[in-house]
Amino acid sequence: MSRIPVIAGNWKMNLLSSDAAALAKSVADAFAGLSGIECVVCPVATSLHAVSGVLAGSSVGLGGQNCYHEESGAFTGELSPQMLQDAGCGWVIIGHSERRKIFGEGDALLNRKLRYALQCGLKVMFCIGETLEEREGGQMDDVLKTQVVEGLAGLSEADFAGVVVAYEPVWAIGTGVTASPEQAQDAHAFTRGLVAEHFGAAVAEGLRIQYGGSVKPDNAAELIAKPDVDGFLVGGAALKADSFNAILSAAAQA
Ligand code: 13P
Repeated sequence: MSRIPVIAGNWKMNLLSSDAAALAKSVADAFAGLSGIECVVCPVATSLHAVSGVLAGSSVGLGGQNCYHEESGAFTGELSPQMLQDAGCGWVIIGHSERRKIFGEGDALLNRKLRYALQCGLKVMFCIGETLEEREGGQMDDVLKTQVVEGLAGLSEADFAGVVVAYEPVWAIGTGVTASPEQAQDAHAFTRGLVAEHFGAAVAEGLRIQYGGSVKPDNAAELIAKPDVDGFLVGGAALKADSFNAILSAAAQA
């Protein structure tokens, strides 16, 4: 089965709305000339409306960076999937390592968020990945297994149509140290194997697994060439049109 690569920009807590709109416009213009890949941008929540306006008529998707597992209520500071949809989103990132580490989100909570977002009709980029200590301590397989099995628990085969898994080794995020294509391929193949074991071979074969962690224009082509790398979740290099658009081009040419 051929999987359409999905390249997403996670803008994290950066850019005010006018800069976000300008960046989105540049990405949409570049993406209009490409084919064979999918593209999503994920601005901060306060820029979603502005970016959504810019993306109208373009096929670049819009995503939130987080959401809660309730529609509305006394959850100060949270956003529901319905609110993201109201702002124009079709996607949301759940389980980013910064949410896990800085905000203490664990697998059980992330699983609730994932299942509720899917139930509401959002597509989800669900992030997993090990720290350097875990990798060096030989715990990587166990960490990925727990994140996959507990994070994706309860999903049906149909649910997986709305799920992309992002493998983001924590040691590669924002460090300039990218996983080698071989390291990425090994982790992606291992993750796909876990999904096959727990959710079935057909689900695993169709599942898109993005790589994230210091993706740049000069390493995108060799990473996307690996058979189990089905796209990117890009942080720093997604904040500049030149570098993000070059990553899109590299993926479209693969
Ligand atoms: P960098 O591309 O800045 O390493 O960030 C990756 C990331 O965390 C994307 O979600």
